[in-house]
Amino acid sequence: MITDAHCRFSHYAGKRLHLGVCGSVAAFRAPDLLRWWRQARIDVSVTLTPSARRFIAPLTFEALGASPVYTDMFAPGDTFAHLEPGQIAQAMVIAPASAATLARLAQGQADEMLACQALAFDGPLVVAPAMNPRMWAHPATRATMATLAARGTTVVSPDRGGTACGDQGEGRLADLRRIHLAGLRALSPRDMAGLRVMITLGPTREDWDAVRFWSNPSTGTMGASLAVAAWLRGASVTAICGPGCPWLPEDIVRRDVRSAREMFAAAEELWPSMDVGMFTAAVADFSPEPFGAEKFKKADAADGFSVRFLPNPDILKTLAARRASHQKVLGFAAETAADLPAAVRAKRAAKGADLLVGNPVGREGAGFAADTNTVVVADAAGREEQWPSLPKPDVAWRICSWLLEL
Ligand code: CTP
Repeated sequence: MITDAHCRFSHYAGKRLHLGVCGSVAAFRAPDLLRWWRQARIDVSVTLTPSARRFIAPLTFEALGASPVYTDMFAPGDTFAHLEPGQIAQAMVIAPASAATLARLAQGQADEMLACQALAFDGPLVVAPAMNPRMWAHPATRATMATLAARGTTVVSPDRGGTACGDQGEGRLADLRRIHLAGLRALSPRDMAGLRVMITLGPTREDWDAVRFWSNPSTGTMGASLAVAAWLRGASVTAICGPGCPWLPEDIVRRDVRSAREMFAAAEELWPSMDVGMFTAAVADFSPEPFGAEKFKKADAADGFSVRFLPNPDILKTLAARRASHQKVLGFAAETAADLPAAVRAKRAAKGADLLVGNPVGREGAGFAADTNTVVVADAAGREEQWPSLPKPDVAWRICSWLLEL
């Protein structure tokens, strides 16, 4: 299973993706991609090029649920296999994509199965190249990539680092999470296209002295799930991240901040250019009166000491009050109250949010640092729902759908 909880989306039942695998040492990583897409309930078919079969066997993909797995263009029994992905799959991903296959795609040279299937495919195409850094930098490959990009192919650019041959540079297969999400994005509805979404997420850290701070256990998983969900659905997303927030794909603009005041400054600057504000951060409501730049020594407080806390700005409430008529505001509520729906209703009205999602804290499987959440959602029109325990990406997906209905 993909390790990052905020990338585990599962809304793809009934969708089919075709995976092409080329000859590369990185071919051994393709089965993980297959497994992750299968866990998202996607049906996956696979084509291995003749070179790929030197590195990995078709049986590996069959055993992990790929169906069918194509290899030979002239295999008996399936005369039109070279056209099949174009007829049944909604997206094609080639990972790893070799220099030879990329050149075939650019030229339309359909002389082996995968290149032929790609030529007969008119849906979204994603390629994740992997090759030696000098091959990747060569003008021929640059020209190939420019041709593919101009045709609308999504390129998951290779990562920088050491390659199997011992060279250093750009060329190794991208982080699989980037390829996984590019595949999901190719299959997602684009119902949030054109929306500019700003999200606050994670905890804030309020410094007291040179080594001590005040914070909370938020991991940013809920906010990161919303950031990825909105991006998958076509929104342009800016994430204002407190310390320790999860990895996000590079298409999501990321602003890392530390304190509530820094988060407020970033959000205040961005808010006028946004359509939607999703305020998921567990912002510290108070910060300790700073002791100073030095470390406080315990010898100076043998009997303990008192710290004074000063209020921080309420980011959601302040920006909701300043919004333009087209701007939508989503808030969260971390609640320990026994009557969660009543607390959610009251907080939505007090904050001026269009939609408020309340999660109980201190309960197993919900709230801080959990991969699932059990929420109550209420909007300004009086609609209210209680959802069962769901993975946070599922909660995020539903929230995005609700926001679109407001
Ligand atoms: N929030 C914010 N700025 C703050 C405090 C909270 O933007 N200084 C936002 C949170 O991101 C969340 C919502 O307000 O969307 C509610 O946060 P929560 O911690 O549940 O409530 P508080 O406003 O802090 O109120 P209280 O602690 O009294 O329940």
